[in-house]
Amino acid sequence: MNEYTRITDYYDLLMTQGYYDYEGMANAVYPLIKDDRKKILELGVGTGLLAEKLKALAPEAEFTGVDITTPMLEIARKRLGEWGKLVAADVCDMNLQETFDIAVSSGGVWVINQRGDRTDIGSHIKGLEQDIKGLANVAQHLGQNGLLLLSIQGEQKNYQQNLPTGIVYSQEIEKIAENDEIESIEKSYFFKKDGEILAQQKLSLNYIKQWKKPEIMEQAGFSFVGIDESKKFHVYRKR
Ligand SMILES: C[S@@+](CC[C@H](N)C(=O)[O-])C[C@H]1O[C@@H](n2cnc3c(N)ncnc32)[C@H](O)[C@@H]1O
Repeated sequence: MNEYTRITDYYDLLMTQGYYDYEGMANAVYPLIKDDRKKILELGVGTGLLAEKLKALAPEAEFTGVDITTPMLEIARKRLGEWGKLVAADVCDMNLQETFDIAVSSGGVWVINQRGDRTDIGSHIKGLEQDIKGLANVAQHLGQNGLLLLSIQGEQKNYQQNLPTGIVYSQEIEKIAENDEIESIEKSYFFKKDGEILAQQKLSLNYIKQWKKPEIMEQAGFSFVGIDESKKFHVYRKR
């Protein structure tokens, strides 16, 4: 399981230095929230950074965030106060006993990775069968015409960045396997100070190749609607 337990304490320090554009993503989700469509489910809510922006824009929305990393949820709870529900669960087998209007994955369990002229699905889930099962479970949690939003991000790359308080972040990407359908990588996060490692975490991620994407999404019960105006999300509709 791709838990973020070892780097939870440093996660916000990195993310709030521009790693993701949370404000831009919230602005892209906001127009989709209407009187009759205001139940939002965030897949891999993490420390609640997108949720916080949604709360500011649409406090009336009914928000639920799901994540497998409990310490990340603890930070999210502090960040969001009493707003929204937070659930510790794996999105692939969660059973929330309710349906939602919009499910959003922002840098979360699934994303769209722009890789040159290809848009692959980036996945935290191990193996295509599990991806289909997980996405089908998300579809089960959506009402009629429910939307699934997958954030668009770049390709995973090696780089290093100075963070406040003298901490240096670096990430290393290693390709470990590839077949027709999937490319598997290991992503290592490092937080260092004065050359000493403060925290590190290795995750296994998959790129599901572009040509396979329509088949996977269709099997899970989704049709592609398009890319939102601000080009932050690929938008799918439950069939
Ligand atoms: C890169 S973080 C993104 C967090 C947040 N969406 C953000 O934008 O800051 C990915 C999150 O997905 C969660 N995650 C990974 N696999 C998951 C799964 N199968 N079910 C629920 N959460 C998962 C991790 O615990 C982590 O908090």
